[in-house]
Amino acid sequence: MTLPTKGRFITVEGTEGVGKSTNIDFIRELLNSANIPHIVSREPGGTPLAEEIRNVLVVPREEKMCELSELLLVFAARAQHLDQLIRPALARGEWVLCDRFTDATFAYQGGGRGLSAELIASLQTMVQGDLRPDCTLLLDAPVDVGMSRAGARGALDRFEREKLAFFEKVRAAYLAQVAAEPTRFKVVNASADLGSVQSEIAAALAAQIAAYQAAMHV
Ligand code: TMP
Repeated sequence: MTLPTKGRFITVEGTEGVGKSTNIDFIRELLNSANIPHIVSREPGGTPLAEEIRNVLVVPREEKMCELSELLLVFAARAQHLDQLIRPALARGEWVLCDRFTDATFAYQGGGRGLSAELIASLQTMVQGDLRPDCTLLLDAPVDVGMSRAGARGALDRFEREKLAFFEKVRAAYLAQVAAEPTRFKVVNASADLGSVQSEIAAALAAQIAAYQAAMHV
């Protein structure tokens, strides 16, 4: 059995508390059932060094982290993740399922912090070249629903401590990205019950899984 030369790159996005972890477990099971070789990772993070950078980003501290430091750290972690994990896996023909990627940068550092989309896009090109996700699932829910779920999980990280207005801007930026790239994004109503959310996710990935399986059998 020869694997197709390039795996598929699937990302999952959303504001805090929309159920990314539960649904990533569900997608992992879908890929297992379909016998698709894959890795599951997350951003910021995914390699030991990138996880160290994640820690710098998420741990609350007294000194204010300036917006540009935050942006550059996010892309430093991403460069490492791409080099060590994502590109090699895709080159082996494996699927990469990633909890957040650069859409989160446009949403959080762009929408939330107010950095320009042009600046973020130039770093995107520098770090990624033309690599973009093949499919992005945006788990979308009203911000207050997600925030109360995130709050119930325990101590809040540096991002989770932001106010409702910040996450409203993040959500609006995600939805603007969907409008700009409607083919790559699948918006899933994350405030629905879990069964409906997972049916929507399965339906969104069904065609890609079928196409991959067809390619495997030629
Ligand atoms: P997580 O809680 O979903 O694992 O993500 C950690 C935080 O990092 C989350 O609050 C969003 C933030 N983040 C950014 O601000 N920019 C990015 O590019 C990424 C990937 C995450």
